[in-house]
Amino acid sequence: MSATPPPYPQGFVWGVSTSAYQIEGAAAEDGRGPSIWDTRCRTAGGVVNGDTGDVACDHYHRYAEDIALMKGMGVGAYRFSLSWPRILPRGRGAVNDKGLDFYDRLIDRLLEAGIEPWACLYHWDLPQALHDLGGWASRDSAGWFADYAALCARRYGDRVKRWATFNEFSVFTLFGYAIPWAAPGITDRVQHLRAIHHVNLAHGAGVDVLRALVPQASIGAIHNRQVVVPETDTPENREAAALLDEHWNLVFPDPQIRGHYPPRTAEAIEPHVQPGDMARIARPVDWFGLNHYGPIFAKTEPERTWGYGWGNAPAAAANSEASRAVGWAIFPDAFREELLTISRRYRLPIVVTENGCGGSDAPDAGGAVDDPHRIAYLKTYNAAMRDAMALGADVRGYFVWSLLDNFEWGNGYGQRFGLVHVDFKTLKRTPKASSRWYADLIRQARAGG
Ligand code: NOJ
Repeated sequence: MSATPPPYPQGFVWGVSTSAYQIEGAAAEDGRGPSIWDTRCRTAGGVVNGDTGDVACDHYHRYAEDIALMKGMGVGAYRFSLSWPRILPRGRGAVNDKGLDFYDRLIDRLLEAGIEPWACLYHWDLPQALHDLGGWASRDSAGWFADYAALCARRYGDRVKRWATFNEFSVFTLFGYAIPWAAPGITDRVQHLRAIHHVNLAHGAGVDVLRALVPQASIGAIHNRQVVVPETDTPENREAAALLDEHWNLVFPDPQIRGHYPPRTAEAIEPHVQPGDMARIARPVDWFGLNHYGPIFAKTEPERTWGYGWGNAPAAAANSEASRAVGWAIFPDAFREELLTISRRYRLPIVVTENGCGGSDAPDAGGAVDDPHRIAYLKTYNAAMRDAMALGADVRGYFVWSLLDNFEWGNGYGQRFGLVHVDFKTLKRTPKASSRWYADLIRQARAGG
């Protein structure tokens, strides 16, 4: 690509992302109800070290300090999620005013700091009471979600204009219902298919509610997309990769934006689809949220629910310092291609709602936290994004995952993604070298660089 790419477009959004369960803590405070992740954390083998989100980053009490950190970095936007069980402790019915109040405080403080709130309605913390009624495998879930969305839209829609229905649909449905790496840890094909379809229906209903209740809403959904490559080139691995590609990359954006399921899934899911459903799912949205980290390597694993499993990256793809630190293959070219593919396939403006790099960063003797692997990663991925934009991808914003080191689901607190280090004993925040690098990038981009 050319050495001097064109400047970032006017109004390009620079942000950071987090999610409620991963940072808030205060799990039993002010009336919050339990979610399926509280349960998962208390299930043997559910999370490394038995870590929980009980305290996490204690953002519930320290949100003002965290907003000041964002302001210091110069970000223009903050993507966070609303905690359904904090707002509706049993998922429906009685509303928890103290939970609603927390997000009022957060939103007002963000606006005072000149940071635009981007609210996501669902980042994996289903109220346990709803799971006990069947969770996403129950068709009723679409209505539960629509009611929750309406409550949030009415309460915050005067100040929040950027809304996402769900975060990473395929991760929480696949790992929740087919491969047991996340809550609720079920392994069942039929429940997985039902969850896919009902989450799609919930998304469509959520879009309708937001459109009706929030004037000037800009509505999107956040999809994880990663190219799926057979671990080695055998017919079995190729078939494994093709099916995983559908479940990972296609079964949500295709019906939501193109109006139909991809071929392998279409047949299997048919018994769960009722007349009119596909029109209910395909509601117009304003932007495509992309979470992207690196490619996936698939292999046949006949004992798994769908006969596929996660393979290893070829040695050549896993040999950089950044790749060793995060434990993932790092392929900025795949990011560029993903952005171009999405542009062609879905024809929507794209917002990169997550991109970032994990590691085990620790303060040095002087208390500073140096994270060159993260800076190297972010540099190459930003260059790839600019290349994609120069080739025609309509990218409108970029959010780093994450503002803070936080509760990394099944990996607990061991894998750190923050631009800001968190000492989980004292809860002290220390901006890492990468946060200064990101602040510089934003400054330069705004100055037309
Ligand atoms: C995806 C998820 O949205 C987020 O919750 C997670 O922590 C990051 N990626 C890193 O794995």
